[in-house]
Amino acid sequence: MSRWQQFFIDEPELALVECSKCSKRATELFRKHNCKTILDLACGAGRESRFFSTSFPFVVSSDYSISGLRMASAKGNTNLICSDARKLPFPNKSFDAVYCYGLLHEFIGNNAPENVRLVMSEIGRILKNNGLLILTVLCGDPVNGDPEIPNVQFFSDEMYFDATTGFECLEYFEYDDISCTGNPYYHIHYGAFVKS
Ligand SMILES: C[S@@+](CC[C@H](N)C(=O)[O-])C[C@H]1O[C@@H](n2cnc3c(N)ncnc32)[C@H](O)[C@@H]1O
Repeated sequence: MSRWQQFFIDEPELALVECSKCSKRATELFRKHNCKTILDLACGAGRESRFFSTSFPFVVSSDYSISGLRMASAKGNTNLICSDARKLPFPNKSFDAVYCYGLLHEFIGNNAPENVRLVMSEIGRILKNNGLLILTVLCGDPVNGDPEIPNVQFFSDEMYFDATTGFECLEYFEYDDISCTGNPYYHIHYGAFVKS
């Protein structure tokens, strides 16, 4: 069982965490770019999907933790797909936008760079041409990490921009947002990109 699968079972209060500031900015950009089909990739308990579905007609939420998807469903989210982000069950060029908050740093160990590459390749494959990508990843020291947030791979600036090679950057910030566990000091790289 993955650590997230267990985490969503052990911590029912994760269902109550409010959506991030990032999701509000993403909503503005989805409107501006006339996005209608949106994938919330690694949606967890579905806090962001729920917010998006109040404004957009077709929001799909995917995650590999069934326990997270159950919480997402209980919140009223529909179009829930259980899948690994490294091999997504969607056709090529099927979404106007992909929203990915807090996934890439989940890959740790020697295979992390390859796993990040696989996820980014899948995002590129399922996005339509000129599709929008909103991507956040924990920002920090990749070597020493932060003992308060174990089991993750912090991303340097270089790692973040390496991961997004091939996408055109529309805007980028480094700031604190609300994590899926409710921590308001979740220091992240945020970027909005277009598939070029
Ligand atoms: C930090 S949480 C973010 C959840 C959600 N995006 C949010 O902000 O509320 C990371 C999520 O990534 C999911 N995850 C981790 N590895 C995954 C993988 N290989 N494929 C799909 N989901 C994955 C976990 O199940 C968890 O829901």
